[in-house]
Amino acid sequence: MVSDKEIQASNALINDVTAPRVAVFVGGTSGIGKLTVKALVATGASVRIYLVGRKSSEERTHAFIHELHALNPKAEVIWTQGEVSLLAETKRVCETIKSKESRVDLLFLTTGYAPFGARRETAEGIEVTQSLEYYTRILFILHLLPLLGEAEAPKVVSVLGGGMEWSTIDLDDLDLKKPGNFTVLNAQPLAVTMTTTTLEKLANNNPNVTFIHSLPGWVNTGNVNRGLDSDSKIMAWFVWLVLEPLIRLFAIGDEVSGQRHLFECTSAAFGGRGVPWHGKPGINSLGKPANGLFLVNSKCDCTLNAKVIAVLREKAQGKIWDHTQEVLRPYL
Ligand SMILES: NC(=O)c1ccc[n+]([C@@H]2O[C@H](COP(=O)([O-])OP(=O)(O)OC[C@H]3O[C@@H](n4cnc5c(N)ncnc54)[C@H](OP(=O)(O)O)[C@@H]3O)[C@@H](O)[C@H]2O)c1
Repeated sequence: MVSDKEIQASNALINDVTAPRVAVFVGGTSGIGKLTVKALVATGASVRIYLVGRKSSEERTHAFIHELHALNPKAEVIWTQGEVSLLAETKRVCETIKSKESRVDLLFLTTGYAPFGARRETAEGIEVTQSLEYYTRILFILHLLPLLGEAEAPKVVSVLGGGMEWSTIDLDDLDLKKPGNFTVLNAQPLAVTMTTTTLEKLANNNPNVTFIHSLPGWVNTGNVNRGLDSDSKIMAWFVWLVLEPLIRLFAIGDEVSGQRHLFECTSAAFGGRGVPWHGKPGINSLGKPANGLFLVNSKCDCTLNAKVIAVLREKAQGKIWDHTQEVLRPYL
């Protein structure tokens, strides 16, 4: 475990030289993304942040940006509106960023929630949570990789469930469209598993970029309520009676979560570049103390889930990659 003291010491070294100069936060309008934006801005460093979010969050996000500017006048936070559950919108937002920037140092992705209710699709025919947690996140990465390639210590952090991959996902139904296949117990592990296999492939193809798939632990953001609908009364009771009390009891504090994710975004512990790290180097998903994909848990430890990932690498990675390419191709 990386102690909170070590994390604080590392984060205290974030300055105009070590901070990501240009960062893109998708999901920074609430929860862990918002906490991490705040932690980054509070370092006092000179940063430019593209805060990407949907129209319905615009008003309250303007108030948040006002607060951020008061906290650190050197931080430039740019509201960037986009319906990020949609691939076409994701492409449009990326084109905007690409037209303004020649490099991106950090891409931080947190959109999504566990779908406790019935299947709901976006206008593009993709189940909403799979789109938020996987497809649009990967599309953001693919579009911004050339700009990440121009940074000195580029990082992509996707917050979902690194280390919790399953080898038993149904490779013949990656969209969970078969009757009865769409359940929260299938959807979440699928998004987690697809994220890790695809990020590992991208890490192999882009050795200068550091990829992190973060498992955030429980953070009391209200995320657990997002996936309930009016038809899922039993689930609503389960969330209210069981999950919420458990989360309240065991959740990591907001400030701690923000600091831990800021550490993941900036420390050389993962991949060797960034704020100098003198502890044990992070071990990547291939089991090596080198750059690549890191599966990082809520205590900032690297996990391997090695047996499962070895099976996925052999049997699932190619199929998931081909399927992803097929879905994303029209928007590349
Ligand atoms: N919190 C936890 O304990 C926990 C534990 C394990 C995994 N996770 C996963 O980690 C990720 C981040 O969690 P979090 O707690 O930070 O989540 P959160 O506070 O609920 O924030 C989720 C983000 O997703 C956006 N979003 C949700 N539905 C959307 C939609 N239909 N269209 C566009 N944007 C949408 C939200 O935008 P708005 O601000 O506009 O609503 C927000 O920016 C999530 O994928 C979550 O499932 C969380």
